[in-house]
Amino acid sequence: MEVLSVAAEVYPLIKTGGLADVAGALPLALGDKGVTLRTLLPGYPAVMSKIDGGRVVAEIDDLFGAPGKLIAGRFAGLDLIVIEAPHLYDRPGNPYVAPDGWDWPDNWKRFAALSWVAAELAWGLVDGYRPQVIHCHDWQAGLVPAYIKYGTPSGIKTIMTVHNMAFKGFFGREIFAQLRLPPQAFEVGGVEYYGGISYLKSGMECADYVTTVSPNYADEIRTPEFGMGLEGLLNGRADTVIGILNGIDTAAWDPMTDASLPQKYSGNTVHLRRANKARLVEKFGLDGEDGPLFCVISRLTDQKGMDLLLQALRGLVELGARLVVLGSGEGYLEDGFRHATGLYPGKVGIITRYDEDLSHLIQGGADAILIPSRFEPCGLTQLYGLRYGCVPVVSRIGGLADTVIDANPAALDAGVATGIMFDANSAHALYEAIRRTVRLYNDDKTWKKMQRRGMKSDVSWEASAGRYADLYATLTGLNIHDDSND
Ligand code: ADP
Ligand code: GLC
Repeated sequence: MEVLSVAAEVYPLIKTGGLADVAGALPLALGDKGVTLRTLLPGYPAVMSKIDGGRVVAEIDDLFGAPGKLIAGRFAGLDLIVIEAPHLYDRPGNPYVAPDGWDWPDNWKRFAALSWVAAELAWGLVDGYRPQVIHCHDWQAGLVPAYIKYGTPSGIKTIMTVHNMAFKGFFGREIFAQLRLPPQAFEVGGVEYYGGISYLKSGMECADYVTTVSPNYADEIRTPEFGMGLEGLLNGRADTVIGILNGIDTAAWDPMTDASLPQKYSGNTVHLRRANKARLVEKFGLDGEDGPLFCVISRLTDQKGMDLLLQALRGLVELGARLVVLGSGEGYLEDGFRHATGLYPGKVGIITRYDEDLSHLIQGGADAILIPSRFEPCGLTQLYGLRYGCVPVVSRIGGLADTVIDANPAALDAGVATGIMFDANSAHALYEAIRRTVRLYNDDKTWKKMQRRGMKSDVSWEASAGRYADLYATLTGLNIHDDSND
């Protein structure tokens, strides 16, 4: 079974968020499920510098305005096809945004090109290579199913995985003439969306299957509150929409071997986390005193409920807790946390850069991770938190509700609690959850049990990779040989 995965970011080549983690870890997890998965991604500078030694497998005369090449190579266990197209991708900044903070004005073209190349691969652009399924991630790959649907019949199947419904890839109708789609594709059953074009909607409309990254979010997005205008489409094709929970790369995220931790530990030695906590406190310039240390590792946006946390911050400090924040995003939120470091010196610290190593140290040293999201398709930081004994304190929403078991009295009695959960979109509920967390933290025996339980929970890709493999098999009618049964 040959599957082509199409994604705009893939860890460890390039990452701005959870999409990269998933696009980087799922291929590895599918390896022993009889699936050969290659990943197509744009050749940003960070990618080109890493795939040194790749070979050119195709040359394209006109890749939306200038020539381009496809380079096949490997990196960190991943089979890659990289699009070398300097006119589209050789730029500073992150994959979507220029250094001035604005989206690149030609993003429509940069990601139409990504999708168009995927379709060309399906039609035989590279000799000897024909994927049977194209697995498209988020709006940047959303045009693939449209190219396949309206192009030369190829028998190839497409899956659209929605990681975040809020990013629709919406552009004006005027780009249509340059998308290389036939006129009939501009229709309700195609790329048209409210008079313009939405790449995400195109993918969700034209793909053979739509998946999203947790079962709960798959249900939520069928309602107006979370469907963000696409609930009608989803309800209309409900039998081909499913939620498959994300996992994490348990080798890259393992507190027993993690090179970013000054002190490694296991479930039996959670007390050793103390040394990491001390390092963290020093790094963020906080007071050295005891008491629970909360953390945030996140984009600072409305989605993540960071304004609610700012409202609850005074209460957190008055409870004797401290907070470290690693994240960047909306200016007013960054400013809010910076202001708080002055208001509560030694109690609140913020670092706004993107720092993968530091994110590991925080998970390995902080006591609890706060995730007050308003919506959360899956969320990965609560999974890293579980794995690292950094107890997740999460809103009851999306994938957060699927992965954390609230420490209510019944769950504590039954010995199943792994975190704290509260109603979304309420600063008061968040504060009450923080209060409950502090109380639990002060009961050392209960707390350690909860940490250990979280560390034992299965956050791996094993089960979910199997579900994707089954889906590929269902779509193609092919039998997949499962090496793991050998
Ligand atoms: P989303 O994709 O919506 O941002 P996820 O929880 O799925 O949320 O994934 C976020 C990923 O980005 C996690 O791997 C998290 O550790 C990482 N991350 C977020 N902000 C930072 C940062 N400033 N530095 C390092 N890693 C970060
Ligand atoms: C998105 C979502 C997040 C999810 C990630 C990976 O960025 O916001 O909830 O975990 O994609 O699927």
